[in-house]
Amino acid sequence: MAATRQSDTSDSQFYQPAEQFFPANDRLALTFDDITLATLYSEILPRDTQLDTMLAEGLHLNIPVISSDMDTVTESRMAIAMALNGGLGLIHYNMPERQQLSEVSRVKNHVHGLIQEPIKVTPGQSIGDVLALIEQKKFGFSTFPVVDEKGKLVGLLSGHVVKPRYAKKKVSEALTPRSQVHTVKNKELGKDPIARADKFFTEHIGIHKLLVVDDQDHLCGLITMSDVERITQERIAQFKPARDAHFHLLCGAAVSATRNAFGELDRARILNHVGALVERGVDVVAVSTAHGHSKGIGDTVKVLRDAFPKLPIIAGNVTSAAAVEFLAGCGANAIKVGQGPGSICTTRIVAGVGIPQMTALYVCSRAAAKKKVTILADGGITKSGDIVKALTLSQAVICGGIFAGCNEAPGEVVEISGKLYKQYRGMGSFAAMKAGSAARYGHLPNPTQKVAPEGVEALKEACGSVDRVLAQLIGGIQSGMGYLGAANLSQLRDKARYTRVSPAGMREAAPHDVVELKTGN
Ligand code: XMP
Repeated sequence: MAATRQSDTSDSQFYQPAEQFFPANDRLALTFDDITLATLYSEILPRDTQLDTMLAEGLHLNIPVISSDMDTVTESRMAIAMALNGGLGLIHYNMPERQQLSEVSRVKNHVHGLIQEPIKVTPGQSIGDVLALIEQKKFGFSTFPVVDEKGKLVGLLSGHVVKPRYAKKKVSEALTPRSQVHTVKNKELGKDPIARADKFFTEHIGIHKLLVVDDQDHLCGLITMSDVERITQERIAQFKPARDAHFHLLCGAAVSATRNAFGELDRARILNHVGALVERGVDVVAVSTAHGHSKGIGDTVKVLRDAFPKLPIIAGNVTSAAAVEFLAGCGANAIKVGQGPGSICTTRIVAGVGIPQMTALYVCSRAAAKKKVTILADGGITKSGDIVKALTLSQAVICGGIFAGCNEAPGEVVEISGKLYKQYRGMGSFAAMKAGSAARYGHLPNPTQKVAPEGVEALKEACGSVDRVLAQLIGGIQSGMGYLGAANLSQLRDKARYTRVSPAGMREAAPHDVVELKTGN
């Protein structure tokens, strides 16, 4: 008994809960790598941990991960992939309002397994053209529906004829004709298209593609057997897709505090646009800016709260308790915390402001608890261990860089010296502001050279699918929870105890004194 008390005392002297640890370090702002979490007695296996999180009434995620509202990270493809994995994507606003509405509709109307806009070819193209297309776009498949100029199905170009030896032949000579192609009418797909397709593939030995057409035989979708098999597996997966009450995937959209020609908040335009987003079924809007503790953002949140009392609203970004109280008072439900931690951010260098992320999260989390709002740790996350640390003080994390190299992020893959990359840029970079995000940084649209960018344009190594990246991250989060004996995220927040890490301790934490053959990911 005495021995237990003795070790309890040394534990509590060296490993402290947030309320003691952060105030004891109040003269030094800390970020992820400055601290580490102490392990605790555990009866929890990582695979048994629950990762669901409630961000606001009506906004429940199955994993606490959100993809950033950035123009090189989240459009409909990313938002679909995030929601299918149980998380959420925030569609960025660097596009015309009409286009943002269609992006949201794509997510809300997504039927899992149905590729709504399959890549098609036309009868007049040559097989050589098709091979060039595959090479240029790095497609991992070679079977294509063939349509005429009006989008009517004329056949299927099967992968086994898409070969260099047939390069000079026309698609029309090589295709399987319409009469032999298996199709289903879109209105016959019913409530469970996957079950319908699953039955079809079982009944039609050797057929791996089912094309969907409308009454006029226009191609409107494609279902593949491999997708159906993956989805059938997924139904028994631990983390279910994040869906609304009508079984549609969840989707968020970012909005800015748009101003009119006189520099005043354009309330009518903001209300119109958010009204249209709500009509399309958006589940949450994020009023996104670099400085959330400002009149324009507060007024925008108030206007939206009055007009849409039940709509979950995210607002930010902030790093102080006063700012959290301000945005909560205006009606926000979830507050984005992070100023300058992002991998492409230069706000701290350019403007000299911002707070290292763990200290910012601690300060904001205490105000958020008082105001009964949630906080989202936004930026600076480079590994799953950072997410575990962030989740000890927040309800979810927002990541940009981690997802920017994924297939589902907007933009093309580029090859440089044999390696594949995707573009990733800050929303405060000059190029992104020119494309529309200037308001986020308090500048006029179409900024001239006078504006100081607060972000860089960069590349991320291409890293495959979001499914794969999330599987790694989730595995890491679950391990961290197992080490702390936390069965769910609320227990993780309650149990976390911290200590500082020295530079030598930081070096010790990464692989060292070995020749690495394979990286951890
Ligand atoms: P990560 O580290 O995940 O960060 O790449 C993504 C977050 O960074 C923020 N963001 C910016 N911050 N200048 C900034 O100071 C920028 O140009 C910029 N662009 C994005 C944003 O919060 C995002 O979620």
